[in-house]
Amino acid sequence: MRLRLPPRAVPLLLAGCLLACGVSCTGTSDPSATGAPGVGDRLFPDAGNGGYDVGHYTLDLDYDPASGQLRGTAVLTATADRQLDRFDLDLAGLTVRRVTVDGATARTSRKGDELRVSPAHPLRPGARFTTTVAYQGMPRLLTDPDGSHEGWFRTDDGALALGEPVGSMAWFPGNDHPSDKAAYDITATVPRGLTAVSDGELVATRPVADDRTSYHWRSTAPMATYLATVAIGHFDVTRSTTPDKLPLYVAVDPRSDDAATAAALARIPEILHWEQGLFGPYPFASAGAIVDHLARGRVGYALETQNRPVFPGDSPPPAVDTTTLVHELSHQWFGDSVTPAAWQDMWLNEGFATFTEWLWKQHEGGPSLDASAASAFASDADWAFPPASPPHAAAVSAAPVYGRGALVLYELRRALGAPAFDRLLKQWPVAHRHGNASTADFTAFCARFTSRDLRPLFATWLYGTARPARL
Ligand code: TRP
Ligand code: ZN
Repeated sequence: MRLRLPPRAVPLLLAGCLLACGVSCTGTSDPSATGAPGVGDRLFPDAGNGGYDVGHYTLDLDYDPASGQLRGTAVLTATADRQLDRFDLDLAGLTVRRVTVDGATARTSRKGDELRVSPAHPLRPGARFTTTVAYQGMPRLLTDPDGSHEGWFRTDDGALALGEPVGSMAWFPGNDHPSDKAAYDITATVPRGLTAVSDGELVATRPVADDRTSYHWRSTAPMATYLATVAIGHFDVTRSTTPDKLPLYVAVDPRSDDAATAAALARIPEILHWEQGLFGPYPFASAGAIVDHLARGRVGYALETQNRPVFPGDSPPPAVDTTTLVHELSHQWFGDSVTPAAWQDMWLNEGFATFTEWLWKQHEGGPSLDASAASAFASDADWAFPPASPPHAAAVSAAPVYGRGALVLYELRRALGAPAFDRLLKQWPVAHRHGNASTADFTAFCARFTSRDLRPLFATWLYGTARPARL
């Protein structure tokens, strides 16, 4: 990669910047006008990119299940937050055929999971620009630091894309970090007879040539890259409207479509109604679920993909149990609408979702909230590290993020009292609706609900390493 300036010119330029910026200069100006290869996430340093903010993705995907080949065109509309001679997109594998920026061919290079783009004309700070990437290849299945898989799963009748934490880069180029949410139009063209299910709402289904069908899905609400999905294959699709007037689209792989799974999925309207009673209005325009059978490798986890969470359909029936359904649907508020600012804030997702499971079990006549909290407290695994500071990337989905994350909420409920805590449960999703929030945002927000000093509570339950003597 050719540098625009010889390195020795940099200090001079920095000095000039200091003079020009005066007291308001933050010292972070980038004299080489290069977008950073990551946003500076402590756990995933290469995730996302610096220098721009994506507002909208148009993804046109053409998939051939027989060969496993994907042909894609991604159109990203973004805003530069600085002068940019070069910026990065995240992309793992695949072959890039052509990149244009505002219609002009850009120079590109690949380095690891970074696609470096040098536009023909530098972008000015604040410029809105359009990047088009034409790409193709066999999308990869990625292995995470904790050994689990994400990215692109080939199934026996199609494919399934899952992206938490950094798997979206396996199937489209983008700014793959939760801090940059955007709207999406995702169109998948697949052999006739197969269905393509994604996030948002289905806006069009069209025949293409004489043997293919395209499914156009639109997410107008902002979505983090890790929550984007596409599921391609044979699906039994049920479309309905809940008594709360929410459109549902539920897609179940026929091989997983047993009576017990259907019975669990039939409870979606009831669960969403119950969750709305706790967390306030459902944040999106539609809901549902995707159950996919993966003959060639198990996912091993459910994922709260936006609007319609994905459940692996290859475990013994039922493929979907009610508690997991409750967990993933609660993520629509905690994670999907209110998205962590960084991966270390993951407990804001999993702590809330686990706490919701505890409330549900109690609601269903199972263990009480106190009993669930007591068993989390007693579990050694939950005390491996403080929930707000996973020590490394492999710990991002470990037990403390879930169990101890939920214990933070349990302790808060005790400290604030149930009425104030119930208000907090409704107001937190409103305060950051369709946005991002950090742990510091949360602890500051909690102070509004009590005159008590909550610092000792957070010091023990959120940041502390030692297990207290008792719950
Ligand atoms: N979020 C998923 C759930 O709710 C679990 C999960 C899958 C996960 N992949 C992850 C959590 C990566 C953190 C990071 O069950
Ligand atoms: Zn979860």
